[in-house]
Amino acid sequence: MKVLFLFGPNLGALGRRDPATYGSQTLEQVMDDVGVRATSLGHEVAWRQSDHEGDLVGWLLGAADEAHEAVVVNPGALSHYSYALRDAVEACGLPVIEVHMSNVAAREEFRRHSVVSEVCRATITGLGAGGYHLALEAMPWITT
Ligand code: DQA
Repeated sequence: MKVLFLFGPNLGALGRRDPATYGSQTLEQVMDDVGVRATSLGHEVAWRQSDHEGDLVGWLLGAADEAHEAVVVNPGALSHYSYALRDAVEACGLPVIEVHMSNVAAREEFRRHSVVSEVCRATITGLGAGGYHLALEAMPWITT
């Protein structure tokens, strides 16, 4: 399968941003490892990161036209308030898995609700970079 990974605000700072919460790997290193797993599972992965909501909306709406078959998204803080992103997830026409590296349920109150979750096929939280790997492993279940 062709799977598009999207990352929202501040996720480009992985490795130097709060390593106790998000780990010490950069996003490039995380996605290199995900790419190795994708190859072993027979998937093809592309990824993009932006600190700008409109970029993420555009990438979601264009994903099917680019022949992606599923999307894995960590919207960062946009998860908690962006109805524009929520609507784009709903409109993209592809199954979407939401991933949070930290256990958002165990953090500040404002992180406990995601406006995106209700239009995603599944949500994975609290497993660090492992969440992206699990999302790939889950592909056979979300596409049937
Ligand atoms: C995050 C959790 C969000 O609350 C936060 O704003 C992020 C990262 C996570 O991966 O745990 O940027 O999505």
